[in-house]
Amino acid sequence: MKRIGVLTSGGDAPGMNACIRAIARRGPSLDLDIVGIERGYEGLIAGEMRELGPRDVSDMIQRGGTVLKTARSENFMHEEGFKMALNMVTTFKLDGIIVIGGNGSLNGAIKLAKAGVPVIGLPGTIDNDLPFTDYTIGFDTAVNTVLSAIGNIRDTSNAHERTTIIEVMGRECGDIAIYAGLTGGAEIILVPENKVDIDDVCRVLIEGKNVGKSSSIILKAEGVAIDSTELEETIQERTGLDTKVVILGYIQRGGSPTAQDRMLASLLGNKACELFSKNIINKAIGFRNGEIEIFDIEESLLVARKNLHHLQELAKVLAK
Ligand code: F6P
Repeated sequence: MKRIGVLTSGGDAPGMNACIRAIARRGPSLDLDIVGIERGYEGLIAGEMRELGPRDVSDMIQRGGTVLKTARSENFMHEEGFKMALNMVTTFKLDGIIVIGGNGSLNGAIKLAKAGVPVIGLPGTIDNDLPFTDYTIGFDTAVNTVLSAIGNIRDTSNAHERTTIIEVMGRECGDIAIYAGLTGGAEIILVPENKVDIDDVCRVLIEGKNVGKSSSIILKAEGVAIDSTELEETIQERTGLDTKVVILGYIQRGGSPTAQDRMLASLLGNKACELFSKNIINKAIGFRNGEIEIFDIEESLLVARKNLHHLQELAKVLAK
């Protein structure tokens, strides 16, 4: 019997609970005792752990957030905190840890692997900014939340003949903006991966008005260099169009996970248990081209990221 810890770290993402559930239920059938570590690496440092049996995870596949809580741990990055974390791994006799999180969390897992703690990393973040997977747990739900917001905002924008800038999350990644922009019919999508051409933005808005559009939606990722309020003022000044800003914020991180996120979470949780039971360790598990793919965790963050420029171009054509 191996004892495997599981933690969620960084920004929470819908589907994290579905993943914890899959691990707590699949683990025992593969001779793994699952231990829940609270509050990410902070809880590891403090030894906040509890046994997680199959019945401890009932009624949670549909819940947003994470029952294990989460944190961004500064302490873990420093020598003293990291040493405490390693002590706790020994004290609680953990044979390995499954880390569910984004970039920073997986970097933490790499640090543990280098120190000799067996790990498996799973992609859990709404940002979809991990290069080794096409989709992260939580991304699809966040996109659907943004879509629903676009619908509401479009109603009132139409009524008032306004242009609305909707700012979405994603850190340095524009995937939420691109997916929600294309599927929500946004007239303009601005992402950190491309430079904003303000002339282009103004031209598209005026052209839209000239062909009879009574409102326009600009979907802007938070990582875009220009501030949303500054963009609002510039557009208003240069086009005369009534322009408003809506920053969606944390609403994007909550809510019941979509079927796609629950499926991804279940498949990845299952695979993590299978790998540990076969002594295959220090891997990150992604989902690419419709299949599970396994990477050495140290290399997983160095894989070339897929380029979504074609989707952005398509969105432009379809929003005409
Ligand atoms: O990484 C997920 C995310 O929601 C980002 O999109 C956003 O920039 C950040 O977390 C916000 O972090 P915090 O919860 O620390 O404000």
